[in-house]
Order: sequence, then structure tokens, then C-alpha cells
Amino acid sequence: MQQPSGIGITAIGAYAPPKVVTNADYEQHLETSAEWIESRTGIRERRYAADDEFTSDMGVRAVQDLLGRYPQALEGVDMVICATATPDASFPATATLIAAQIGLHGVGGFDLSAACSGFLYACAAAQGLVAAGINRRVLVIGAEVFTKIVDQTDRATAILFGDGAGAAVIEQVPQGYGFQGFVLGSDGAGAASLYAPCLAPKLPDGTVIDSRYTVMNGREVFKFAVRIIPESGQQVMDKSGLKVSDIDWFIPHQANIRIIESACERFRLPLERTIVNLDRYGNTSAATVPLALSEAVADGRIQDGQQLLMVAFGGGLSWAACTMKWYAGNGVQDL
Ligand code: UT7
Repeated sequence: MQQPSGIGITAIGAYAPPKVVTNADYEQHLETSAEWIESRTGIRERRYAADDEFTSDMGVRAVQDLLGRYPQALEGVDMVICATATPDASFPATATLIAAQIGLHGVGGFDLSAACSGFLYACAAAQGLVAAGINRRVLVIGAEVFTKIVDQTDRATAILFGDGAGAAVIEQVPQGYGFQGFVLGSDGAGAASLYAPCLAPKLPDGTVIDSRYTVMNGREVFKFAVRIIPESGQQVMDKSGLKVSDIDWFIPHQANIRIIESACERFRLPLERTIVNLDRYGNTSAATVPLALSEAVADGRIQDGQQLLMVAFGGGLSWAACTMKWYAGNGVQDL
């Protein structure tokens, strides 16, 4: 019997609400065109949560999808982490609200705030908890209802975002599988480029917060993204002893196809080895990476033993990159 020595994802699921909003729908109330949106972003449509649905609802549905695919997956889960920029409440943590609804009573639970980089940050936290022996199986959720914190009358931001969630179980996996490296970074000096208000009337740099909604300098975030994806991606590959030619699948944060294409060009990695679903979901913030991963595992593109590179960026400014060898078994139960 092989001894468990890696830590990785052993179950994955995702959810996007049924309401589809197409680019043409925005033409009704914004000065924009479906053609502009698709050519500048690659997005064709995205999903909106119902008025009475929030992040915990997205998260619960993603966990239900995971359970449909891996019925035993929640057995022994002793921690829930929810990465989100749109928690149901300041407190309690959305993680605890989700845990109670999926029947996990008495487990640890906390939210993680790293905007669009949140899911990969949460994977790193989960790996640390398992490696330290603090937890055995950690349920990591990236869930958002970002459309509720975007001004739907602002054409510069409204068209970009959608709602959804992804969920993953992280635990010990056989040697040679699982996470190989993480690079996590942030630079709060760039906070004014992308933020959503909460309590403070100003950012530390003096920026006055006078909107109830997400504020974004699209061009600044774009420039940051095309720099940081190749930079952090290369760093994590170096750390893991990998080359671009070793990567079977690149799973980037789904914000803009032009950002993804630019990263692929810099890496000299063909777009065909990249998982892209932003055309159908837009930018779901912390949910993009698990949504993309979940789809590609479900449709058989990602196979056992394949080498993955995942990179995300977002508000903070923040970034996170991760290398992982995909394990298609059922974690420690298989060993
Ligand atoms: O998770 C991270 C979240 N954020 C991002 O990833 C954002 C990264 N940035 C981007 O994806 C792009 O910068 C955008 C898609 C937001 C904008 O594309 P762009 O090619 O950088 O356009 P721009 O901001 O330079 O704007 C070009 C023009 C402007 O008009 P003027 O100033 O040239 O007259 C905008 O007002 O396009 C205008 N514009 C629009 N026109 C039609 C901005 N939004 C729209 C719109 N429809 N929806």
C-alpha cells in the first residue's frame, strides 16, 4: 500500500445560477454593444443570482454538485474555508453558514478575503492546515454574488461580472500527486485600482470612497494582470522544478480573454492547453478557478496525473499561483 505523502484536491464541484444575461441584454439600458463587450473581453454571457440568493446559496449548491460526483467527499471534513469578496454578512463567516446547511456541525469555519485570488489563497491555507496536522480534510469554497456589488448602470464594470461558486476537498493524496508549490502576493499600494466599500470613508492613500459599489480602473488592472500572471506563474514553476513544456493545463483567472492570450503568449503556451470558460460565465471573482477546474474535470479534459498551473489576480492588488498534479482518486480512502 502506497503511503500518503502529498496534499491535493480529491473532489471538485461547481455551480452557476440559471439566469443567463447576454451581452445584448445590456444594450437595453447601457450605452454599449454586444460586439464591444465580446471583442474587448471575450465574454458572451454570464449568470446572475436571483434577488434573494446570496453567496452561501451559491456555495451550498456547489457543494451539492460535488457530492453528486463524489458521494463520500464530506466524510471527515473538519474545516470549511470560504473565499469570497461578497460574504452574506460581515459576520458570521459565510463558511459557517454553508457548513450548517450541508450538515457539517462543529467543524472549523472561516472566510478568506483575497478577492479574485481567494480560491488559490484558500487552497494554500488548507494545504498548510493539513500538513501541520491541524485538520484532516478541508472543504475549500470560492463563492460570489459579485453582480450585487457592481453598479448595474456602470458600463465599465457591469458587463464583466457574473455569479457562481466552486468547491473542493483538500486532503492527503498519494506521493507525486497534489500541490507542488504556491506563490502568494499582494501590494496594497494598488488598492485604489480595484475595491469595494465597507466601513472606511477613505483608502489609506487618501482615495475618497464615494460609491456603494465596486470601483475599478480597468486599464490599471489590465496592465497589472498582464505583468503578474507570467511573473508569478514563472516563479511557481521555478519553485516546483517545472517548465512551461511540462504544463498540461493552464487554468487562469477568467477576467478577460485578452489578458489570458497575453499570458499564453508570454509563456509560449498554446491557448489550446488553457481552460477558458469566461465566454459563458464572465468574471465570477473567487469562483473562476474552481468553476473552470470543475468543468474541465467533469468533461474529461483534465486526467489523472496531468500537470496543472493555476494563476489568479485581483483586488488588493493580489495574486496567487499554484502548481498541482491532478489526482483522480478519492483521497486517503483509496490508499
Ligand atoms: O478580477 C479582476 C477584475 N478586473 C479586470 O480584470 C479588469 C481588467 N481590465 C479589462 O478587462 C479592460 O480594461 C476592460 C474590459 C475593463 C476595458 O477594456 P479596455 O480595452 O481597457 O477599454 P478602456 O477602459 O481603455 O476604454 C476604451 C473606451 C473608453 O472610451 P473612451 O475613453 O476611449 O472614449 C470607455 O469609456 O471604451 C469605453 N467603454 C465602453 N464602451 C462600450 C468602457 N466600457 C464600455 C462598454 N461599452 N461596456
